[in-house]
Amino acid sequence: MELTDYLLLLRRRWALLLLCCLAGLGVGAATTVGKPPTYQAEATVFLTLNRSASVSELAQGSTYTQGLIQSYVLLVSTPEVLTPVIERLGLPTTPRALARQVTATSPVDTVLIDIAATSTSPETAAQIANAVGDQLATSVADLAPAGTTQGDQISVRTVSPATVPVAAIGPRKKLAAAVGLAAGLAGGVAFMVLRELLDTRVRDEEGVAQVTEAPVLGVIRQGGADLAARGAHAHSSGPEAESYRRLRSNVQFLDLEGATQSVVVTSSTQGEGKTTTAINLAVAMADTDVRVLLVDADLRQPTVAQVLGLEPGVGLATLLGGRASLDEVLQPWGTQRMDVIAAGEIPPNPNELLGSRRMADLLAATRERYDVVVIDSPPLLPVSDAAVLAAQVDGALLVVSGRTPRKHVAHSIQSLHLARARLMGVVLNRVRSAVSVPHYELSPARSSRRDGRPRRWALPRPLRKESSEA
Ligand SMILES: Nc1ncnc2c1ncn2[C@@H]1O[C@H](COP(=O)(O)OP(=O)(O)OP(=O)(O)O)[C@@H](O)[C@H]1O
Ligand SMILES: [Mg+2]
Repeated sequence: MELTDYLLLLRRRWALLLLCCLAGLGVGAATTVGKPPTYQAEATVFLTLNRSASVSELAQGSTYTQGLIQSYVLLVSTPEVLTPVIERLGLPTTPRALARQVTATSPVDTVLIDIAATSTSPETAAQIANAVGDQLATSVADLAPAGTTQGDQISVRTVSPATVPVAAIGPRKKLAAAVGLAAGLAGGVAFMVLRELLDTRVRDEEGVAQVTEAPVLGVIRQGGADLAARGAHAHSSGPEAESYRRLRSNVQFLDLEGATQSVVVTSSTQGEGKTTTAINLAVAMADTDVRVLLVDADLRQPTVAQVLGLEPGVGLATLLGGRASLDEVLQPWGTQRMDVIAAGEIPPNPNELLGSRRMADLLAATRERYDVVVIDSPPLLPVSDAAVLAAQVDGALLVVSGRTPRKHVAHSIQSLHLARARLMGVVLNRVRSAVSVPHYELSPARSSRRDGRPRRWALPRPLRKESSEA
């Protein structure tokens, strides 16, 4: 992933990140709630070698005490020192627990030991620090190395007794909240990036490029679930309408011979937007004054008639079953030159009907009458209807919604390939981020130019009046 990918990801997922930050902040702050304030008191003791001696002996003595000082620092948290302290102060605790309340440190190159004691009571904190200092002196005397004479003894003297602290040192609410916030942010970013890296859904052109060399001919934004219900969106002037006009232009550019174009609109799975795309593409085509036929060849769950408000009972299935002629099933739609063939009554054998002689005849007949035939179809993965159809026409448009896994798209493309159908291109539907819409540019694989740059396709004959607008 590049930096721009991360920025795009951030823009798309900022709400999630914010949520993680808030959660971290909340958890961090919650850890301090209900905790009593804690106080810390500090006493300082000094280590001396009791000996009247020459300067050189004194120097040796100081090295000796410095060597011992780390041991005395450690001695502070042992029961040797703490048990007597507990007894003396009558503390309701154990040496092990008290050890966690007491810390001893020795500043570098000194013979001083700082003893810090924490407690929820400021007085107790001071008492503990002082008692530990006193007890350290006693214990050090008891533990004096054997053989030292009375005059040679190491002694510990308190040089700065602990005073009762005024301000509490904890709980550190701001720190806890800040740590929580940072953890939330880090966790959120990690989750986001990991999810993105493991995500195999086809969301954008790059995702399409990973499974096929076919060009992305259209990118339709996620535009509210009632898009299909409103139907014929291409009439309006919104961004969706513009997207469908671009799809139309790109499909038209694929038509090199300028002959009748017949395209099957299909997808991998249900509900990816085949019908919505087919209807809007057909309407956008009709807007350019070409003769358009929209056929609902989804003989399993047909919805075209319902969306366009047409008679659903008579249609393709009726025609293929030999119970009506082409003219009897054609229904004009809108003010343009667009006709629609609804699906008709749902037949028991859709696959057979779509591969039948009558279907081939119908396609041949429509070539005479129309410039463009757009065919809506069932999804590719559950049934082979769309592949059977696509093999009989110029090619298929594969609608890929932003939620489709790459695996599904790859299988669909393979099933088209096995049926010897041509995949004209992909329509990305329900795209959430603002992706640039490809226009005129076909993938380099389709380009005939040696330098690999996209070729500018000639305008197809019947649609030439489009050139100014496109
Ligand atoms: N770009 C979009 N933005 C928002 N909603 C959409 C979009 N495209 C399609 N829809 C909605 O998704 C639903 C399914 O769309 P549509 O019927 O076109 O899919 P389909 O592939 O034909 O489904 P089926 O497999 O059932 O035939 C519809 O309710 C439609 O309004
Ligand atoms: Mg449909």
